[in-house]
Amino acid sequence: MIVAQSADEVRAAVDGAVAFVPTMGALHAGHASLIRLAAGYGGPVVVSDFVNPRQFGPREDLERYPRDLEADAAIAAAAGADVLYAPDVAEVYPEGFATTVDPGPLAADLCGRSRPGHFAGVATVVVRLYGLVRPTRAVFGRKDYQQLVLMQRVARDLALGVEVIPAATVREADGLALSSRNRYLDRPERERAARVPGALRAAAEAFADGERDAAALLAAPDLDGLDLEYLELRADDLGPHDPERRAVLLIACRLGATRLIDNVLLDPDHPDRAALELAAKEPA
Ligand code: PAJ
Repeated sequence: MIVAQSADEVRAAVDGAVAFVPTMGALHAGHASLIRLAAGYGGPVVVSDFVNPRQFGPREDLERYPRDLEADAAIAAAAGADVLYAPDVAEVYPEGFATTVDPGPLAADLCGRSRPGHFAGVATVVVRLYGLVRPTRAVFGRKDYQQLVLMQRVARDLALGVEVIPAATVREADGLALSSRNRYLDRPERERAARVPGALRAAAEAFADGERDAAALLAAPDLDGLDLEYLELRADDLGPHDPERRAVLLIACRLGATRLIDNVLLDPDHPDRAALELAAKEPA
């Protein structure tokens, strides 16, 4: 694997149909599973490692966002990346850069309600990175479900020629989705954080038992000690919930200064799947 700082180096190093995994670094086993999925397509894999200032709000954690290029390179190489692309801000946003990609009204919904401008920042950097890297595929985690749906829409609406591939959420033994931000949780917060997948698990188990009513699925999970931002049931394209169709249950909350999000797909054709995904596992 090579570590490249410029897009010219990236394009000189790869040939053929590139599978691209955009990240902000601080790589963990969730990112590694995206890289392995990308490598499964058989072509070169480029992983970007760039903390994008445009997707952080003024009171968010841009300054303290964890950065460790050496550790990232080891994880990316082990997972099968060919290039780790770690550009600086001046390469991604050269002087005079003035374009913004506005992904439409969904960007102001759900997480967009508390993070105005966030998804425009994501869409802008991702489209810019597509231009620099020129991939034919890009892998995004279901963990950030709204981001995934928006990036599918942007690729389609702008006819970018990039196929957006969804990847499953990687979780800790107690169900907590891996996230670069989990390291901010102190021990009591980390224990309470298990209630985030726990809230999804309660609904997933009711769904597996045949419950289809939205109010019943959302009834009374244990959210004690979580500052809940939203818990919502939607269709899997994030439109209004329809009990006949695949649904997604999404949660966002704060634990102290840390914001956590998670979600689970509720599929009437595979009613047990969500409960299985969230089942507590033996610690490794
Ligand atoms: P980042 O938070 O680093 O996440 C990079 C990718 O890893 C995203 O597609 C995210 O959904 C996925 N991911 C994170 N945690 C995961 C987990 N536990 N299981 C599976 N996949 C997981 O998302 C971003 O960066 C940025 O917004 C980015 C798209 C790079 C644009 O700056």
